[in-house]
Amino acid sequence: MNRLKYKNNDEMPILGLGTWKSAAGEVYVAVKEAIKIGYRHIDCAAIYGNEKEIGQALSEVLSEGIVKREELWITSKLWNNAHGKANVVPALKQTLADLQLDYLDLYLIHWPVAFKPDVVGATKADDYLSLEEQPVADTWLGMEEAVKLGLSKNIGVSNFSVTKLKALMEVATIKPELNQVELHPYFQQNELVKYCQDNGIHVMAYSPLGSSDRPAGLKKEDEPILLEDKAIEAIAKKKGISIAQTILAWIAQRNVSVIPKSVNPARLKQNLEAAEIALTKEEMEQMAALNINRRYVDGKFWEVPGGPYTIASVWDEE
Ligand code: A2P
Repeated sequence: MNRLKYKNNDEMPILGLGTWKSAAGEVYVAVKEAIKIGYRHIDCAAIYGNEKEIGQALSEVLSEGIVKREELWITSKLWNNAHGKANVVPALKQTLADLQLDYLDLYLIHWPVAFKPDVVGATKADDYLSLEEQPVADTWLGMEEAVKLGLSKNIGVSNFSVTKLKALMEVATIKPELNQVELHPYFQQNELVKYCQDNGIHVMAYSPLGSSDRPAGLKKEDEPILLEDKAIEAIAKKKGISIAQTILAWIAQRNVSVIPKSVNPARLKQNLEAAEIALTKEEMEQMAALNINRRYVDGKFWEVPGGPYTIASVWDEE
């Protein structure tokens, strides 16, 4: 499998296992199965509510000798209520305790959105802190501290626009190594991928398969179903692979890391195998033609009456 290299010479397998929406009772089995069949990269986050269960699976595969810690790439993310320099290391220590690990390979600021510390799910304006009240640059100091303490080998961000990345690059002593964003054939992120790749920042694609298992509140009635796309189906049929594999191969071939979520053994296997599939130049172009700039995770949930965030302000879009 192709690996993306970091400035400290760490290497991250380009395809990993996503764990957002992986339910309690399922994620333990999925992570163990994934590692047994060859996954070496697991994407986690405190807010997914399943890090303890993932930690149980990790501790077992490590103690059973199925894999060594240094062969695994483990990412997690700082939740919105732990922004601010002083809050990062305690939040990371909790994640490490839950995952039963001594260090992470990568720790990300989950969203450029800040909550007050006692709020887990913000529902009203008073639950939020604006980025003027709680600047990203201050939170980043805590992220840098995490590297200095050896708690995470690398640090980065998630859901950052080019505008926000540029601002962070100007103040960061340790530059962000990666930006994890929604990316799939219907939302190709060409400008962001170009900025990142030109500036030594890796990109990781979440919701690569369209996350059709999202909670109903995050769905819209008219949304196109990525895994039923006819043009992708035609490419897949011709190659004798699945639609999901075609999408994953296309993302990886852009040198973008990708973290499809599955809790199903057969789909875990086919997703892993997708990293070894090559698309022709023509197939890459056919995939590129499918962009409709359609987000499935649009950030509207951060908009509350009188609150400091809007969809436009989160993404820095008109
Ligand atoms: P399951 O976990 O039952 O396999 P995303 O990674 O974009 O969030 O998408 C995850 C959704 O896609 C889940 O519903 C997952 O279901 C499903 N999925 C994962 N891999 C495949 C695949 N190879 N083919 C079809 N559906 C898949």
